[in-house]
Amino acid sequence: MAIPRITVLVSGRGSNLAALIDAERRGRLGGTIAAVLCNRADAPALGIAAAHGVATQVIDHRGHADRDAFEAALAAAIDASEPDVIVLAGFMRVLGAAFIARYEGRMLNIHPSLLPSFPGLHTHRRALADGVRVHGCTVHFVTADVDHGPIAMQGAVAVHDSDDETTLAARVLAVEHQLLPAAVRAYCEGRLVIAGRRVRVKDEVVPTVALVVPLPAVLADAPSAELLSSA
Ligand code: GRF
Repeated sequence: MAIPRITVLVSGRGSNLAALIDAERRGRLGGTIAAVLCNRADAPALGIAAAHGVATQVIDHRGHADRDAFEAALAAAIDASEPDVIVLAGFMRVLGAAFIARYEGRMLNIHPSLLPSFPGLHTHRRALADGVRVHGCTVHFVTADVDHGPIAMQGAVAVHDSDDETTLAARVLAVEHQLLPAAVRAYCEGRLVIAGRRVRVKDEVVPTVALVVPLPAVLADAPSAELLSSA
């Protein structure tokens, strides 16, 4: 069987791209990164791709008359890279319905919150403002409803009393770097099955232990696996 081809769309720092490249180098991505497409010529992500010999192309949204023209150029670049899956890894443009329909079911996004909580921007600031005890990140299929597509995988972290936006973002980002390669691999291996709003992950291992934050002393003192295991 042909090795699945992955096209990654980025806009900025590129740490999730770096995690994908690292996973590929370790044989843990389930596919090969065919191209990195970026809407900003000054994005550090471009340097990360180039340093690893991954082909890059800049499609600057500012160089196009309107969103339709930008998306037509972006679609042409995507199609030229012949991807099996398209991964939005910190791609910061909202995409139009027609564009999304063209790739629906084979486009994944990573979002820095436990969706459907905190769609949109400034997720860590809003999580702290709302006092949530558990925060995290989500890999989901992209649909026209921004940040609301079927959820493939999620990773959770505890929110600490001492957290500010920076420390919480760093804790979540470390999980993003595990989650995104894992979700892309599952897709490449044909293990993500969309069923309406839900995604079934074939051969998944689901922890039976509940995540309780903060951990009550009665649980912290006990053999946690026994006490917290679900029936
Ligand atoms: C990540 O937090 C991702 O979840 C969000 O944008 C950020 C991109 O970071 N969509 P990086 O460019 O991957 O470092």
